Amino acid sequence: MQGTPGAAGALDPLFPRLGNGGYDVRHYDLALDWAPARSGERAEGGPLRGTARITARATQNLSAFNLDLKGLEVTSVTVDGRPARHGRAGTELTVRPERELDKGTAFRTTVEYAGRPGPLADADGSEEGWLTGDAGTVALGEPSGSMTWFPGNHHPLDKATYTLRVTVPKGQRAVSGGEPETLEPEPDGDGRTTWTWRSRRPMASFLATLAIGRYELSRSRTPSGLPVVNAVAPGQDAEVLDRLPDVLDWSAERFGAYPFDSFGAIVLDPGTVGYALETQTRPVYPGSPSVGLVVHETAHQWFGDFVTPRTWQDIWLSEGFATYAEWLWEEDHDGPTAQETFDRLYATPGDAGLWTFPPADPPDQNSLFAAPVYQRGAMTLHQVRRLLGEDRFARLLTGWPKKHAYGNARTADFTAYAESLAPDAGTRAALTRTWAGWLRAAGKPDSAKPGG
Ligand code: ARG
Ligand code: ZN
Repeated sequence: MQGTPGAAGALDPLFPRLGNGGYDVRHYDLALDWAPARSGERAEGGPLRGTARITARATQNLSAFNLDLKGLEVTSVTVDGRPARHGRAGTELTVRPERELDKGTAFRTTVEYAGRPGPLADADGSEEGWLTGDAGTVALGEPSGSMTWFPGNHHPLDKATYTLRVTVPKGQRAVSGGEPETLEPEPDGDGRTTWTWRSRRPMASFLATLAIGRYELSRSRTPSGLPVVNAVAPGQDAEVLDRLPDVLDWSAERFGAYPFDSFGAIVLDPGTVGYALETQTRPVYPGSPSVGLVVHETAHQWFGDFVTPRTWQDIWLSEGFATYAEWLWEEDHDGPTAQETFDRLYATPGDAGLWTFPPADPPDQNSLFAAPVYQRGAMTLHQVRRLLGEDRFARLLTGWPKKHAYGNARTADFTAYAESLAPDAGTRAALTRTWAGWLRAAGKPDSAKPGG
């Protein structure tokens, strides 16, 4: 059968060009070589050189397909070892294999590239992508920054496993998510070291990270035996990281068994970036975090990483849950109850930012990280809790991520799941009113009463 080109986007309502159609990535094997100016920049190519080996399966008969990549120079592309024609337009890298790929075939694309990766400015004015601070560089990818350092299918829907090998100059360390091969790599003749990190569980590309700098690395285990690897920028207070086992235990109690093979933190030099990110197994913090922030990013490991929003429109399923986790933590640790937090927020006037749009329908790219997604999203979950009661809500907190283990889910999946836990028709009807009033309608809901 005649193949056709894969789509240039994954049809995200808010980011139509993000991701690509026609194939499903299984594994990224990324070999990177970093030689920044200070340690003698190369004459050619720029400080970053990469080889991306991307194993994928065709989901249609393919004559061509796209990868997302911003900036950098592509020097060669092969598909299954044969040279492939390629072209660039904006952030789309189009690859035309010598032979068409039949639906269902596994194929390997190898992209050689080089250059100077940079940051990417988001609609809300924040920065992501390849960020440089006093102590080094860090790559952050929510929602689209991963395209600044490797070619890929950069939409949360296409999860894959990763092997990342990074060679850095003498004295530098390369830290990522997943499990390290060793924390003491042998230097080569120039003192350069190569760091290998494996993420064996499927990961959305926006959850990939790479921090390069003079980090202090430590490896330990929680009392229950989970490996912990922390990377702390020089001079940062890391005492709060002693709480990780507590926070993990509490989270596992609330949300079910921890879904990954290691955990930890990357604490940056302040000033590098203004926010934390739930990078899979190893959240990035913009400096020494509060316990509340650690709770938030830890909860994201279940809500955001284990079960990932299907589109960026569904982001409240990450942020609403992670915010609600903070409320629950406070409630369980002598702080305000979730009800008190809800009441305080409900008291904000109707013209406040909190009520400008409903959590399930952020109107534009600028709205992804706004209060209606985080706080009103958490308020919606609190209403669900009140309607279902403590036991059923506790079952929801463990059952929901497990139902979509290592996959994706959208708002309609969640509402159907919550309804399936309702004990009777009256509760189901009250939930339906909650979706309408709290999740989907703009403006402050008229009543703070659940189901009202
Ligand atoms: N998901 C992160 C968190 O809630 C926030 C990311 C903000 N990103 C941004 N580009 N503004 O922990
Ligand atoms: Zn968050």
